[in-house]
Amino acid sequence: MQTRPIRTGPALTEMAAERTEVAIVGAGPAGLVLGRLLHRHGIETVILEARDRDYVEGRIRAGVLEQGTVDVLHETGVCGRLDREGLVHDGIYFNVDGDRQHIPMATLTGSAVTIYGQTEVVSDLIEARIDDGAPLRFESRATGFDDLNGDAPVVRYIDADGRERRLQARFVAGCDGFHGVCRAAVPEHALQTWTREYPFAWLGILADVAPSTDELIYAHHESGFALHSMRSPQVSRLYLQVAPDEPLERWPEDRIWEELAVRLGTTGWTLRSGPIVERSVTPMRSFVAAPMRHGSLLLAGDAAHIVPPTGAKGLNLAVADVAVLAPALVDCLRGRDPGALLRYSDRCLERVWRAQHFSWWMTTMLHVDPEMSPYDRQLQRSQLRYVMSSRAAQTSLAENYVGLPLRT
Ligand code: APR
Ligand code: PHB
Repeated sequence: MQTRPIRTGPALTEMAAERTEVAIVGAGPAGLVLGRLLHRHGIETVILEARDRDYVEGRIRAGVLEQGTVDVLHETGVCGRLDREGLVHDGIYFNVDGDRQHIPMATLTGSAVTIYGQTEVVSDLIEARIDDGAPLRFESRATGFDDLNGDAPVVRYIDADGRERRLQARFVAGCDGFHGVCRAAVPEHALQTWTREYPFAWLGILADVAPSTDELIYAHHESGFALHSMRSPQVSRLYLQVAPDEPLERWPEDRIWEELAVRLGTTGWTLRSGPIVERSVTPMRSFVAAPMRHGSLLLAGDAAHIVPPTGAKGLNLAVADVAVLAPALVDCLRGRDPGALLRYSDRCLERVWRAQHFSWWMTTMLHVDPEMSPYDRQLQRSQLRYVMSSRAAQTSLAENYVGLPLRT
């Protein structure tokens, strides 16, 4: 005979917590890569994601993968499409006031980058997770936590049917991005934060037109920054510096293409235009929260730090965090060595701060800041000329762009 518990009130509902080893909040790159790495080591995880699958797979984000990120994706085993469709780039172009200079990153550093959209990385990992039969709950929004300082923390969440639920774990991975609830759950006195806002934003477009360049072009022009990137041999991704509060209505298609052609222009080169299939404005901010561990809560990716997109580091930092976190959790949960988990925050923050500096440096060097003093403008021009002409300066830029080795 089957017996069913009689539920009479909140106290009994609260007892009915589901259990797992690691509760992962957020199904962006950080949560999905972590879930896959842990799954491969036989660690049980449940991923809770606030949005639905179409939304998560439809978000257009950055698309430059460091070699270290490609290596981690190989480690996850979710790399078939990446290997087939990823575009390996050995360099980038700088275009300063109409002068174009190639920076041969692979020659200078021995490493290349791979162009493959974050959207594709996320779709591939979701498909793999579902094939694995591992729990990934869409439309399940974490709302709070209990006992984050103990050995059996609980994530409270609202599921897709609007019911309040509880998920108990040994650890909680806070992979819920900059606006998530995990970082907010750390008491103020236990977290130090650093922020920098920039007086500009990026208007990004995705266009159904073959890229007009073989490698990315980062442009500085008196009218502002522009970037020519791509997603495939048929799809281009481009950005223009605009004001942070810029209304999209002020940018009809023709104006966008005209402005891109001016800022990216150089003698003998033409920008191909085509139908714009997506456009959005992204604000730019630098932010770090430390430490990245609070009791049983581990923060990873945008939940702990964000960078302006100029250095293409956001996705790479998220993957680098979980590449450190996954083996540390495995060691701890399998009773071997809790030491790696104790070192998690410090190990990540070293890379995070290098990427913070690089992203800030690229951003301030390449954008036109309306508040910049005439003196600072001269410094900026001098720095740009130096990067355009010095192999040493280009080597330093390239070393940061292709990324530091992982797990050093
Ligand atoms: N409960 C569950 N999920 C949540 C909650 C919540 N309360 N709050 C946010 N999320 C989800 C978001 O819907 C999102 O899918 O967490 C996910 C966080 O994913 P990302 O924002 O992509 O963050 P991360 O995985 O750290 O990846 C960083 O993404 O934003 C880019 O430029 C950034 O490339 C970088 C990368
Ligand atoms: C992109 O392709 O979306 C992209 C590329 C390089 C960057 C930022 C974004 O620096």
